[in-house]
This record gives sequence, structure tokens and C-alpha cells, in this order.
Amino acid sequence: MSSGEAESPVFDTSVAHIARVYDYWLGGKDDYPVDRVVGERVMQAYPDNVYSVRANRAFLDREVRYLVGEVGIRQFLDVGTGIPTANNTHEVAQSVAAECRVVYVDNDPIVLAHARALLTSDPAGATDYIEADLRETGQTLARAAQSLDFSEPVAVMLLGILHMIPDHDDPYAIAAGLMDAVPAGSFLAISHPASDINAAEGAEAARGYNAQAAEPATFRSRAEVAALFEGLDLVEPGVVRAPEWRPRSEIEAKSPSNLWGGVARKP
Ligand SMILES: C[S@@+](CC[C@H](N)C(=O)[O-])C[C@H]1O[C@@H](n2cnc3c(N)ncnc32)[C@H](O)[C@@H]1O
Repeated sequence: MSSGEAESPVFDTSVAHIARVYDYWLGGKDDYPVDRVVGERVMQAYPDNVYSVRANRAFLDREVRYLVGEVGIRQFLDVGTGIPTANNTHEVAQSVAAECRVVYVDNDPIVLAHARALLTSDPAGATDYIEADLRETGQTLARAAQSLDFSEPVAVMLLGILHMIPDHDDPYAIAAGLMDAVPAGSFLAISHPASDINAAEGAEAARGYNAQAAEPATFRSRAEVAALFEGLDLVEPGVVRAPEWRPRSEIEAKSPSNLWGGVARKP
């Protein structure tokens, strides 16, 4: 881990942070009281949230398997990695093709503190971890180039992160900037909380989150999420509720979720 292992990272436990709240929703153990209070507040507003975050992890699993198994992608840039949990990107990718290379990026020190679990690569492939902010695209790409070959296709993964980028920080330009750096045949995968699925519950959940969190969340409509793929060719079935993206069963497709999900190819 060339970004340096955290000897004693400092965690701000006075306000909730998305990585730790998400960990709480997933049943993890790396969260603090303030994260649990906010996590509960969101679940009171939107009781199906636990299903929704699990559906997001299942979307990650299907999307990575599709890209490795059906498309032949071997390189991933996973920005907004989250605290390691079950089926991290490299584990899914390398279970299909051991030579896959995965670079993880997150800006929360708690993710850095647990990054060792992300660096358990199959020897045939590689993993790396970069502590960086998604908004610092140039810096992230320069570091990622130490592990990834940007003359070959790369799958850029922005799962459950772009809602943490407010409109004034231009998430559209950030997604476009990352895709400008990768060659034709590369892919962009996005999942994003929706403002137009379970709209009333979602709005109340966002209010509850934003009242006590370090950084605000912005839920977006299907049209806004589709615009994040501008200039790319959406893979079937397009931007859909995350559980409906190439589901493995009818039960999976019907999972409650207020997330839009999609995958697109750079022409
Ligand atoms: C909800 S979690 C999603 C984790 C994982 N991608 C998934 O979908 O299961 C969002 C992650 O994005 C990270 N994050 C939020 N804003 C970020 C930023 N501006 N730059 C880098 N990482 C960020 C958080 O620290 C957190 O770990």
C-alpha cells in the first residue's frame, strides 16, 4: 500500500460519516454512536433501506461478474470503496479471472485503516489503495496509473458515492473527467440513491441524514443519473432500479431499493 498504512488515523466521531453509516446498515462493526443514530433515523424514514443497501452490494457483484466474465474487463478503478465487507470488488473479479487488477479509492480515514483487507489480491492479479477525494480526479488518475494500464480498458466504478457530490461540485464533470482518461472499450458503473423512487420516504431519509452528517447527500432522479453516462453507450437494460439490472432471479429483481443503477461502455 504505497499511500501508507495508517498507524493511528484520527476519526471524527462528532458527526456521522457515510462510510460508517453504510457499514452500520450492512451489519458491520466499524461505526460509532453518531453513525448509528443517523442510520436509524434514515431507516425510520425508509424502512426498506437495509434491503436497498444489500441490493447495492448484489448489483456490485452482478456488474463486476458481467464485466469480467462477459466483456473481458481485467482492470477496475473502484472509487468510494467503503469499509471492506463481504464480496469486495477484487474478490468478485478475481473469482472469475484471477489476473484482475483493482485500484480502490476512498477519502475516509476509516476505510484506509481497514485497507489491508482490500489488499489480499490473488498473486496473479493486483490490488492497490489510494486515499484521495473523488473531486481530485487528476491526482487519483496519476496514482492509479502506477497499478493500472490506461492504454487498456478500465471499468470505473462509482457505486453509492456520487450522491455525496453536490451539484455545485459538478458530479457530471467528475464522471466525464474519469472517463476521458480511459480508452474506448472502458466502462462506467454507477449506483445512486433516487429522488424519484419512494420519493416521500427518500426525501425524509435524506433530511434525516443531512441533519447530522459531515457531508450532505443529494438524491437524484433517473434522468439526472442517466445524464452521468453522457457520451457513453448504456448496456441493456439501461438505468433501472439496481435490483432490476440483470437480476439472477425474480426474487432478486423485486428487492426493495431506492437506487438507480446502470453500466455503460465508452465507444
Ligand atoms: C455508501 S459507501 C459505498 C461503498 C461501496 N462503493 C458500495 O457501493 O457498496 C460511499 C463511500 O464513498 C466514500 N466517499 C464519499 N465521498 C467521497 C469522495 N468525495 N471521495 C472519495 N470517497 C468518497 C465514503 O467514504 C464511503 O466509503
